[in-house]
Amino acid sequence: MKATAIAPANIAFIKYWGRVDAALRIPSNPSISMNLSACTTTTTVEFSPGLKHDVISEGFDAARITAHLNRLRERAGSALFCRVETHNSFPASAGIASSASGFAALTVAAAAALGLRLSERELAAFARLGSGSACRSIPDGFVKWEGEYARSLYPPDWWDVRDIIVMVESTTKKVSSSEGHDKAATSPFFHKRLDALPRRIARLERALNEKNIQELGEVIEEECLDMHHVMQTQSPPLYYWTGETVNIMELVKKRTVPAYFTIDAGPNAHVICEGKDEARVVELLKGRTLIINKPAAGAHII
Ligand code: PMV
Repeated sequence: MKATAIAPANIAFIKYWGRVDAALRIPSNPSISMNLSACTTTTTVEFSPGLKHDVISEGFDAARITAHLNRLRERAGSALFCRVETHNSFPASAGIASSASGFAALTVAAAAALGLRLSERELAAFARLGSGSACRSIPDGFVKWEGEYARSLYPPDWWDVRDIIVMVESTTKKVSSSEGHDKAATSPFFHKRLDALPRRIARLERALNEKNIQELGEVIEEECLDMHHVMQTQSPPLYYWTGETVNIMELVKKRTVPAYFTIDAGPNAHVICEGKDEARVVELLKGRTLIINKPAAGAHII
């Protein structure tokens, strides 16, 4: 009745922005990501007949976690409550979305603790109901999420790339991505991005297959700017960048080293390069707080 799981956060190369079904978190478009080795959540779930309600570590969204546990309890036919203990490898204040790693770890730990034997597809589908991008943290390495499910395109050792996260401070309150997804279609550019995606996804998949960093880099920068263009023109508009985010984009754009940027729903910049160029990129970004990630395995029991 007790299990512990670890799950990575992930960085989207092709982003999830907007959904066709908000309650079921079915995305408007397929997305592709890489699991991050240095940004993980470890969660222990223990079901026990002695508990009268779920006991969840301080500082986490208890209502959303309980709603997720209810889905798994229903599947297992269990009425037991549980104790949930969660630890992130990165500080909560770091501005790194912990919902992907968090709901992936919770899903895998709670399913195991309930004795459910779920396939990777089913685990990804359950994780998606907690947080959309969490479904991409279930399979290994480089992952594609389409519709209800996510699957691995390549294992972590397929390509030695880095995601060097540059921590950027922000004083503005983060708008939840859930609210953002719901308003995405109010942007006049929402459908233009969706129309451009099939070609962009094909280019990205080719770049991953051929391990072509220049092709991958050009596609992820185009996609990042396109998604933020939609965000900034939806109603109400969402601006996630700060001056420092833009400084880093400009620094990377000089291409003094083969490195490329992407940015999610926050001010941090993710700088993508090959492992052989890591030291040069760290030198380029010196003086800033960095988290260096390699491609990682998906969520698993430990
Ligand atoms: O899974 P959510 O609801 O936190 O949405 C994630 C949205 C982005 O980070 C902006 C893009 C993505 O695909 O991760």
